[in-house]
Amino acid sequence: MNRKDDHIHFALNRPVMDNAFDRMRLPYHSLPEMGVSDVHLSTHLFNRTFPTPLFINAMTGGSDQAKTINYRLALLAKHFDLPMATGSLSAMFHNKDLKQTFTVVRETNPHGFMIANLGAHHGLENVKKAIDVLKADAFEYHLNVPQELAMPEGDRSFEGWVDHIANAQKQLKIPLIVKEVGFGMSTQTMQTLTNLGVRYINVGGRGGTNFSVIENQRSATPFNGLNDVGYSTVESLLFAHHVPGPTYLASGGIRSPLDVIKALVLGAKLVGMSHYFLQLVTEQTHEQAVETFTHFLQECKAIMVTMGVRDIGLLAKQPYFLDKTTLWTL
Ligand code: FNR
Repeated sequence: MNRKDDHIHFALNRPVMDNAFDRMRLPYHSLPEMGVSDVHLSTHLFNRTFPTPLFINAMTGGSDQAKTINYRLALLAKHFDLPMATGSLSAMFHNKDLKQTFTVVRETNPHGFMIANLGAHHGLENVKKAIDVLKADAFEYHLNVPQELAMPEGDRSFEGWVDHIANAQKQLKIPLIVKEVGFGMSTQTMQTLTNLGVRYINVGGRGGTNFSVIENQRSATPFNGLNDVGYSTVESLLFAHHVPGPTYLASGGIRSPLDVIKALVLGAKLVGMSHYFLQLVTEQTHEQAVETFTHFLQECKAIMVTMGVRDIGLLAKQPYFLDKTTLWTL
């Protein structure tokens, strides 16, 4: 099977992961003195206003199946005006025929906010090609050291990434996002990125899809220790409190409206999901998916009513409760 199809298969059939959002509790008010119609989910980012604080996090491209999934994701992105990232466009540098498995998102959603994605080993020339192909509104570098190490055919040296990020930050005319793929980010990593001038960081933490687990399942010679490397999304967002400056995006293990609200309370400006949307577009028709996601957004509003909060911009000012014995707070 194609590597991209393997990723889709193993991501859809992943084991249930320990999720730190379950050890966090939100405030609750018995007298909120407001109703569902008072709640506003719209958010302003990248010089645009989006109706919800959600986005479709990077996933796929590079096979026929991936093209169909990208088409369905783009339809959903268009309906809800969700920013959407494609999977890494690197496949198209090896085989030009695969370009259309990515460009389908732009054809389907001509005016949507599209994010092109590549690994940080790619230099500016490839970055510009990726942006061009997608007519992208933003570009993101993904960081995935444990995944590469778990892959028998993966990279073994990770030098030069910092220079590539610094260069892209200086040269690109569209926003640069740096994202993790599910291993989270330390305070040190976020400080390094901030020192380079990076303004958008997607902390991409543990709790959901785990690419060490996926690559180890594909490998005849697994490095199973890598399955436990990294920080949860909750921990990463807590670390981010020590590194003010950038705008933080949350992803990794966001399963539900409750997780979305918790991520916003921890300071994220935008919340991304991969597995959730992958499951949605592979198991439901477009009409069913629209209905399911409309319900998802209604539930976000319902949770905010229980907190007495009208505007998602105010969520980051709310108190929260953590089980400190199982979460890192430094
Ligand atoms: C991914 N992810 C990913 N990330 C990235 O930056 N470039 C990529 O090409 C891919 N490819 C990819 C394929 C598939 C099938 C999945 C499910 C995911 C990682 C993704 O963006 C995200 O960081 C993780 O999936 C964690 O989020 P969830 O799945 O727990 O919501």
